[in-house]
Amino acid sequence: MLLHLLHVLVLISGFLVICAVSQSLEDQILQALQNTVDCDSCLDLLGDLQAVAVTGDDALIDLLTSVCIDTKMFALAIGLTAGKLCDALFGFCAAPPVNPFRVPFPRAAPAHPNTAITAPKPRRKPFTVVHLSDVHIDHEYTIGSEANCTKSICCRNFADEAGKPITVPAGPNGNIKCDSPVSLANSMLEAIDALSPKFSIFTGDVVERATWIVDQAEVTADLMDFNSQLAAKLTVPIFPALGNHDSAPSNAFARSTTVTANNSQFVFNTQSQGWERFIGKTAANQVDHNSGSYSALVPGTKLRIVSVNTQYWYKQNLWLYDTDAQQPDPNGVLAFIVQQLQIAEDAGEKAWIIGHIPLGKEDILDDQSNYFDQIVQRYKMTIAGQFFGHSHKDQFEIAYSDYSNQIAANAVSIAQIAPALTPSSGNPAFKVYDVDPDTFEVMDAKVFLTNMTDPSFTTRPKWELYYSTRELWGSLVGLEADSALTPAFWHNLTDVFVANDTAFQQFNTHITRGVGVTPCEGIARTRRFATCVRSDRKTIV
Ligand SMILES: *[C@@H]1O[C@H](CO)[C@@H](O)[C@H](O)[C@H]1NC(C)=O
Ligand SMILES: *[C@@H]1O[C@H](CO)[C@@H](O)[C@H](O)[C@H]1NC(C)=O
Ligand SMILES: *[C@@H]1O[C@H](CO)[C@@H](O)[C@H](O)[C@H]1NC(C)=O
Ligand SMILES: *[C@@H]1O[C@H](CO)[C@@H](O)[C@H](O)[C@H]1NC(C)=O
Ligand SMILES: *[C@@H]1O[C@H](CO)[C@@H](O)[C@H](O)[C@H]1NC(C)=O
Repeated sequence: MLLHLLHVLVLISGFLVICAVSQSLEDQILQALQNTVDCDSCLDLLGDLQAVAVTGDDALIDLLTSVCIDTKMFALAIGLTAGKLCDALFGFCAAPPVNPFRVPFPRAAPAHPNTAITAPKPRRKPFTVVHLSDVHIDHEYTIGSEANCTKSICCRNFADEAGKPITVPAGPNGNIKCDSPVSLANSMLEAIDALSPKFSIFTGDVVERATWIVDQAEVTADLMDFNSQLAAKLTVPIFPALGNHDSAPSNAFARSTTVTANNSQFVFNTQSQGWERFIGKTAANQVDHNSGSYSALVPGTKLRIVSVNTQYWYKQNLWLYDTDAQQPDPNGVLAFIVQQLQIAEDAGEKAWIIGHIPLGKEDILDDQSNYFDQIVQRYKMTIAGQFFGHSHKDQFEIAYSDYSNQIAANAVSIAQIAPALTPSSGNPAFKVYDVDPDTFEVMDAKVFLTNMTDPSFTTRPKWELYYSTRELWGSLVGLEADSALTPAFWHNLTDVFVANDTAFQQFNTHITRGVGVTPCEGIARTRRFATCVRSDRKTIV
């Protein structure tokens, strides 16, 4: 049974830890999965698993330990944790209710916070910031290899495909079934540098997604290579964040409160060293000692970047199920954010929160979305923006001060989600913001892309403006020339999407940059509950 669950994890989600299991076992496992049809049978399966783990089939566990994470992982308890696991992996159980926890704050919000920061009239000229994400660079990408394989990524010389005739040869700059070749990343970085941004942000996921063969040596090498590539290609500052693929096994970040082994300390060491040239010595030291999070002022501004390791909140980080005891703030990430935002508030600075996984999404624990939202509400006057990646989609999220009354006046924070470089989820793209130099509000959000079906993609990819939020939708919302894209603007834009199908279809097409667009038509699109809109404007609760 133990083996069964493990491989089931693999089959259910390409993101999970993968163990070497033979084909015949795979069939048995699939059968076991077929019997696991609802919450109760999922809990039963975990019960069997626990029995195996407890009775200690040493040979089995030894085998799994050598190929998987750690025996600790299998000490699964039945209870709330198992319910969470069944929900996270299979969607069988309803997500358990949020565990109440009040995030501690050093002091209450001041009555008139950050009144020092206002925009002069007229506003000063905005500066440019570039937001790139999910590069997923495959150093084994091979031009001419099979691009139409059945694995989660292709364009590699996989050993088990040796000798097979090539049906679709991998091109020089990427393919929709593959992760990014180095050449594609270079091409994007050159295009970014040509825009002369004041700085750029990168919201994580460096490593390719052949998750079943990724190991610590590869992750370390991939992270170091991308750091060098950024340093070589960009003449502007960059503020990076860690992604769930930037560890080995993928998604594995053990909590310091429940596990003594530093299983991802190698990631923090590598990035502390690799990022120091971008973020400075103090922030690099924080990366090492704060499990990958840091904060740094953008040179010459009053804007503080708070870069957050979101992976301790990720449902697919299996280390989160190693105990039933509630762990409201694993590795002190929430406490670190609060500390840094308090520093910003006290110093009259504004802050941008950057991280990989957007809070409020289905694959983040509800507990953590709730706790993070408490921080957003407390520091809403200091937080001038939030920026994430992970979904590979061009999206946004709105936080409201009153979840049950979602109106423009209650919209307090806006999170931008950047599309990916990897061609596997649409035309490779990045976001560009025009930013007010006084308030650090976003005045415009634009997407640039390279079109994979354009002949130039195989020779020299062209990066062009896809759309500007302000130009395309500003007038539909009645946006004034001097106004920023405030949370209220984005709220009103969702009202436009409900009322105007043409505008909504533009948004829906943009999500994957015009490739493999999932139709969203003929349904009642209410602002809050429509199937298609819902995941793209799910509120942080
Ligand atoms: C890719 O392979 C599938 C079968 O595995 C086939 O149906 C499809 O037509 C192929 N695509 C291309 C572009 O050759
Ligand atoms: C884990 O890493 C932290 C930070 O580098 C260090 O303080 C701690 O001693 C390490 N723990 C173990 C068990 O190695
Ligand atoms: C949003 O819509 C409301 C109601 O129509 C309006 O009062 C408000 O000014 C709008 N705000 C923005 C920023 O568009
Ligand atoms: C609906 O949206 C489209 C595309 O943005 C725009 O051209 C059109 O004028 C809008 N229609 C109305 C009635 O506002
Ligand atoms: C990419 O190019 C193709 C053909 O050249 C065109 O049909 C398509 O609309 C373009 N996609 C985007 C997102 O511009």
